[in-house]
Amino acid sequence: MIQGNGVKGLYEMGLKSLPKQYIQPLEERMSMENNKVVSQESIPIIDMSNNNNCDVEDAICDAAERWGFFQVINHGVPIQVLESVKDATYRFYELAAEEKVKYTKENSASKNVRYGSSFSPDAEKALEWKDYLSLFYVSDDEAIATWPHACRDEALEYMKKSEALIKRLLNILMKRLNVSEIDETKEALLMGSRRINLNYYPVCPNHDLTVAIGRHSDVSTLTILLQDQTGGLFVRTEDRRGWIHVSPIPGALVINIGDALQIMSNGRYKSIEHRVTANGSKTRVSVPIFVNPRPSDVIGPFVEVLANGEKAKYKSVLYSDYVRYFFKKAHDGKMTIEYAK
Ligand code: SIN
Ligand code: FE2
Repeated sequence: MIQGNGVKGLYEMGLKSLPKQYIQPLEERMSMENNKVVSQESIPIIDMSNNNNCDVEDAICDAAERWGFFQVINHGVPIQVLESVKDATYRFYELAAEEKVKYTKENSASKNVRYGSSFSPDAEKALEWKDYLSLFYVSDDEAIATWPHACRDEALEYMKKSEALIKRLLNILMKRLNVSEIDETKEALLMGSRRINLNYYPVCPNHDLTVAIGRHSDVSTLTILLQDQTGGLFVRTEDRRGWIHVSPIPGALVINIGDALQIMSNGRYKSIEHRVTANGSKTRVSVPIFVNPRPSDVIGPFVEVLANGEKAKYKSVLYSDYVRYFFKKAHDGKMTIEYAK
């Protein structure tokens, strides 16, 4: 990590060419033959305010089974809350380096607050062109005491205001799996912990030679992603050979299924590989909320899913072990799930 000012600091130095640590191997670049974009396709866009609730439910479950990714509009999270958390993201990154450096791995007073660049710098083949601030939610009091003031209130508000949407989505997805009631134990497995990341992707010289985030699938149950209007998020096509651009829609949220829900649904819902390209002319911010099991939970296919005699495709794993395995390796596509096989 570049002390205190991250990749943003590199950009502000006025670099004319990409430093060599950021040059990705050919096969990771978007311009390669095997990474061609299929621009005609789009992931589903679902209007959550549609009066016909059955249509909404079917659209969500179909999208989760087929694409693993969809966008929602009229989702109930106030637009003002979304705009505020984007502003707060800029506010945090515009702090002086001496202020931000307090939250790096080496310096952070709380293990739940982490500012850094790249995903797993020691394991990666090349670095990623991004900075992040990662905030693990434990309680309001803990967040108020430890999260950076520049973005704390807005990040908390976004998390609070998205809770009803998260519960609605999980209820709908569980119904198709024959899980009719989300009791306390199930609720903990599905949404027992949450992490919010404030991502900052500065303008990048020679952007075609690098990535903003390499190929990966999320380890969450669900991810709720707020992106700005810049674009750059790509998702694997259904045949898993090409990529689809997730076109920004003002006010929309991108929802994706993570590995934990793929495992719990015994493969019925898909956690799909995605990536973010670096941009040569525009800064991008995004704010995902990762909805996760608790670290101490053991996750495996739900009994309700296996009740029809279906064979379990995944074994039960301790969630903290699964996450540790994910962070130990580079972003290298949809590999983490092998850990549960
Ligand atoms: C992520 O995959 O974690 C972030 C995606 C994005 O910034 O669009
Ligand atoms: Fe992701």
